[in-house]
Amino acid sequence: MSEKLWSEVDDYFAETLIPSDPALDAALANSEAAGLPSIAVTPHQGKLLNLLARMSGAKSVLEVGTLGGYSTIWLARALGEGGRVVTLEADPKHAEVARANIDAAGLGKIVDVRLGRAIDTLPSVEGPFDLVFIDADKPSNAAYFEWALRLTKPGAVIVVDNVVRAGRVIDADSGDAAVEGSRRVTELVAAEPRVDATALQTVGAKGYDGFIVALVTS
Ligand code: SAH
Ligand code: DHB
Ligand code: MG
Repeated sequence: MSEKLWSEVDDYFAETLIPSDPALDAALANSEAAGLPSIAVTPHQGKLLNLLARMSGAKSVLEVGTLGGYSTIWLARALGEGGRVVTLEADPKHAEVARANIDAAGLGKIVDVRLGRAIDTLPSVEGPFDLVFIDADKPSNAAYFEWALRLTKPGAVIVVDNVVRAGRVIDADSGDAAVEGSRRVTELVAAEPRVDATALQTVGAKGYDGFIVALVTS
């Protein structure tokens, strides 16, 4: 089984289930033109975030790690009347590109892009949020998950991206800070009585990775 096949299957499902969308396409094109790394979620994952937000009736979303605003747009579009998104980004260029993309998508009024290292901006973020998407620097995942718990109530959904790292998550001695971050957040989630969670592996156009989905239960 090859990455080529995974990509072809991703293409099939994207072409069949996820109509191309001018604002999302433009967000990716502008991000690439501005030299941002091509590490946004796939359309399939973006749509899953959108569906999770709609399934849970989310009205407010916190995102950690904006990049060019691609996942932000998927999430913001899921919120009904009175929706609100706060998205945290450390890189000024990424934040600038994201703001332009979000404005062009017509979502500038409901999305607040906050520039700064998330660990510095989180203390001034006001919750509660109905859904939190954690997708920034992987070594900080456990710290972000703790913030997500502080900023949510029972019924909220927390998603942590990129926890599989091509399978390296099972290597307790990897010495890789991102892998250690995945393991720490997984163990934190397991030990946390306030959440119930699972992790799913994914293959596709972006290789082999996966994510945690948690429900805040109490
Ligand atoms: N969620 C985006 C992808 C985010 S990529 C999408 O799917 O479309 C990760 C982003 O996190 C990058 O833009 C990077 O600059 C940002 N980042 C890295 N370290 C950070 C930190 N300490 N605080 C906030 N953002 C950070
Ligand atoms: C990387 C970060 C991501 O958020 C992602 O989805 C894929 C890769 C990275 O830093 O390599
Ligand atoms: Mg990611």
